[in-house]
Amino acid sequence: MPAYAKLQADLRAAPRTWLVTGVAGFIGSNLLETLLKLDQRVVGLDNFATGKRRNLAAVEKLVTPAQWNAFTFVEGDIGSPAACARACAGVDYVLHQAALGSVPRSIQEPLASHAANVTGFINMLVAARDAKVRRFVYASSSAIYGDAPELPKAEAKIGQPLSPYAATKAMNEIYAGVFARNYGQQTIGLRYFNVFGPRQDPDGAYAAVIPKWVAAVLRHEPVLVNGDGETSRDFCYIANVVQANLLAATTTNPAAVNQAYNVAVGARTTLNELYAAILAGLRRRIPALPETQPVYQDFRAGDVRHSLADISKAQRLLGYAPTHQIGEGLEAALDWYQQNVG
Ligand SMILES: NC(=O)c1ccc[n+]([C@@H]2O[C@H](COP(=O)([O-])OP(=O)(O)OC[C@H]3O[C@@H](n4cnc5c(N)ncnc54)[C@H](O)[C@@H]3O)[C@@H](O)[C@H]2O)c1
Repeated sequence: MPAYAKLQADLRAAPRTWLVTGVAGFIGSNLLETLLKLDQRVVGLDNFATGKRRNLAAVEKLVTPAQWNAFTFVEGDIGSPAACARACAGVDYVLHQAALGSVPRSIQEPLASHAANVTGFINMLVAARDAKVRRFVYASSSAIYGDAPELPKAEAKIGQPLSPYAATKAMNEIYAGVFARNYGQQTIGLRYFNVFGPRQDPDGAYAAVIPKWVAAVLRHEPVLVNGDGETSRDFCYIANVVQANLLAATTTNPAAVNQAYNVAVGARTTLNELYAAILAGLRRRIPALPETQPVYQDFRAGDVRHSLADISKAQRLLGYAPTHQIGEGLEAALDWYQQNVG
């Protein structure tokens, strides 16, 4: 049986208690949904900096009342050690997602990114240590590969960070290693590569490319491409990210712990290909949508040109096996945006 199928059966048979920070955000709310559907007990922590109450309401509708009753929400800021301690009490595993995402936001507001992503991170590490949490899994980022030219990106070699955001995620990995060495804490970092899927926010100045473009096409607004459209990314559907988190939290392989892993599918899509796939997918659903061309603008500061993951380490040590290639993920995401974004 594949590792993830076995894990899901094990969790159903013996439920655990999980803390998901950033639970009202895109990735956090998807973790919450899967964990509740697996009959787990979940504590969620969020301050609604970018997360939405409507994401929690949406999850409530997707689970049974009994599953929803197994969820406890703590409204609080990871900048507060007391809030972190409260959220960690009695928890088996932490899935730490709370952070301020977005490279451009971090260039505009480096202090805010540092406060949430570094000070908030160490507050969570301390709280998890003091609560004797079994394992601390956290969201790192492909951004930490920075200026390293190698493709595909393998975990052993990172470059210089190109943005404050990348610096905060590199700092997370440094602190996780320090807590492992000094306090014996078990940590695993997951370097997400361009995640997408239901509940990813299409609005605001710092929206990610897939939700932003899907919403623009649906709303008959122009799609803006940074650069010539030949920039490429390893787009990863949310179900793969959820799988990686659950495998990382529960692996019993000692060699797998206190490591960082790429979480992606290992395939590269250019922005031009992405636009064509989004437009075709939406026009299949809504034939009246016009066949518009995107508008090209300047390259964006801090962006890396190409991104592609080597996922063999997660496959080998965690049993990670992505269930969704970009095409399958995009189909599921487009269905969701069609129903939820007008
Ligand atoms: N989405 C991606 O493609 C991607 C890629 C790489 C890494 N990541 C990382 O994954 C994590 C989740 O990202 P996401 O895409 O779900 O973003 P998101 O903005 O939807 O979710 C982040 C959540 O954290 C919460 N939060 C922020 N600051 C907080 C604070 N000080 N205290 C408590 N809660 C706080 C927000 O309110 C939000 O609900 C982040 O750590 C992000 O850096 C995401």
